[in-house]
Amino acid sequence: MVDLSVDIAGLKLKNPIMPASGTFSEELAEVFDLDRLGAHVTKTITRGWRDGNPTPRVCEVNGSMLNSIGIPSKGVGAFLEKVVPFYRHYETPLVVSISGNTADEFATLCSEVSVDGVAAIEVNISCPNIEEDGKAFAIRPSSTYDVMCKLRAATKLPLWAKLTPNTGETPEVARAAEEGGADALVVANTILSMAIDIHSRRPKLGNLMGGLSGPSIKPIALRMAYQCARATRIPVIGCGGISTVEDVIEFLIAGASAVQVGTATFIHPTAMVSIIEGLESWLAAEGLSSVRDLIGTVIDGEQNEAVVFMEAAP
Ligand code: SIN
Repeated sequence: MVDLSVDIAGLKLKNPIMPASGTFSEELAEVFDLDRLGAHVTKTITRGWRDGNPTPRVCEVNGSMLNSIGIPSKGVGAFLEKVVPFYRHYETPLVVSISGNTADEFATLCSEVSVDGVAAIEVNISCPNIEEDGKAFAIRPSSTYDVMCKLRAATKLPLWAKLTPNTGETPEVARAAEEGGADALVVANTILSMAIDIHSRRPKLGNLMGGLSGPSIKPIALRMAYQCARATRIPVIGCGGISTVEDVIEFLIAGASAVQVGTATFIHPTAMVSIIEGLESWLAAEGLSSVRDLIGTVIDGEQNEAVVFMEAAP
């Protein structure tokens, strides 16, 4: 028997595989047993109603996906009434993803979703689709720190900060999130991108720009996960183009303690289940009794020695 369980800042997950926010919903219960997953992560919600962005909201680019959904939301009332009760039927921990236009509104929502049945809150401080030119709190260390402090004060639940690849300051932003009170980092959201139809000369997305996800961004997300794991003492959850068992193994070796699978589920709705089964088989074939033995075991090219990660804070 291989032990697939991992610990994300005190939250025990039976395995390290969970969906990326926005690529998972209650309908998947018709396709597989949702209790197979390490965690459930909901689509980001906002406090009030949001229509979302103009259509088209998605398009395919070179085997990957561009989206500018714009976080359509029915608001927190509908979420607490309909969505949270649905997940109470499962033993798998529920992670609720939230967003806000201002730090104060964000913090109010954070407190409103801190209810029985919610195990952790993923704070989406990185959506590229709600402000002009993809601006988000997590682009800068200072705005990351400020919003995290307010969110920290608003809840006792674990806070997972979802970072953005649209910054040149990844380790600094990761440290700012940790110092502001994040318990874990989700690394990372989509990459601000664009596609144009050459015949109409129009952008392929109604909102002109959007976030790129899927296999083409995996090396970028992997690099970021490694940087964040080295820069902080809190667990990193890898996210970005993960679609195979080998991708998961790479992220774990790079220092991630768990991973989120996103775009792959749109292609194969049972991708996460196949990955969990494949991971168990791979570990058994390698003679490893626990998935935790893999985490942060990357070897430095020149030194041929294990890279040193910071110990978790006591
Ligand atoms: C969206 O709804 O636009 C996507 C959410 C995100 O990328 O954070």
